[in-house]
Amino acid sequence: MPQKTPEKGPFYSKNLFCTPQPLIIVKCLNCSIPNQFNAFLLMALKIIDHGSKEYQQMVQLRNDILRKPLGISFSPDELENEKNNTLIAAYEDDKMLGCCMLIRQDAEEIRLRQMAVLNNLQGKGIGRAILQFAENIARDTGYKKITMHSRKTSTPFFEKLGYKICSDEFSEIGIPHFEMEKRLA
Ligand SMILES: CC(C)(COP(=O)(O)OP(=O)(O)OC[C@H]1O[C@@H](n2cnc3c(N)ncnc32)[C@H](O)[C@@H]1OP(=O)(O)O)[C@@H](O)C(=O)NCCC(=O)NCCS
Repeated sequence: MPQKTPEKGPFYSKNLFCTPQPLIIVKCLNCSIPNQFNAFLLMALKIIDHGSKEYQQMVQLRNDILRKPLGISFSPDELENEKNNTLIAAYEDDKMLGCCMLIRQDAEEIRLRQMAVLNNLQGKGIGRAILQFAENIARDTGYKKITMHSRKTSTPFFEKLGYKICSDEFSEIGIPHFEMEKRLA
């Protein structure tokens, strides 16, 4: 497995696969407001196991944020097929704040799917932290490129993190999407 030290990404841990400890980061929720109390969020980023209690939380969160609003849900087959994916979640204590998963496409490419942050915590930097964590895992594991099908409404988020649109608009689960990708330097 290639060992590379990424040049950027504050959440990199070279011992990621050697330690049972999740990576802990602290987010200041309203640092831009001077002379006021700043709320801090102690957030742990970790890889979770398919079929575990954490996985059930992840399915619930994804269902609430990504599926229920569209009137659809996950089939048992769909969830079973996730067992070889890298499942990533952000936690505050026992509460899951957000998640995503990585799926191997080939030796060079890994696909990001099912990225979601709790509705009331969106826009506070949690998605950015999860995505940078996922990118570092992908880079550490030797992948050269991350690809995804991004909802049209989320493309500005991914563009801020260096992803480029590389397809025409298409429809998936009934809503407009674009294929996006990022080279992992
Ligand atoms: C898309 C999502 C995962 C982003 O996570 P988040 O925690 O809200 O994003 P962050 O707070 O880390 O945002 C990072 C930057 O992107 C911007 N951003 C986030 N979502 C955005 C959006 N939909 N449109 C435009 N900008 C967005 C933020 O303003 C922030 O900008 P800044 O660095 O200039 O302050 C989250 O909003 C979400 O779960 N959305 C609903 C589900 C969804 O669409 N998932 C993606 C499926 S492809």
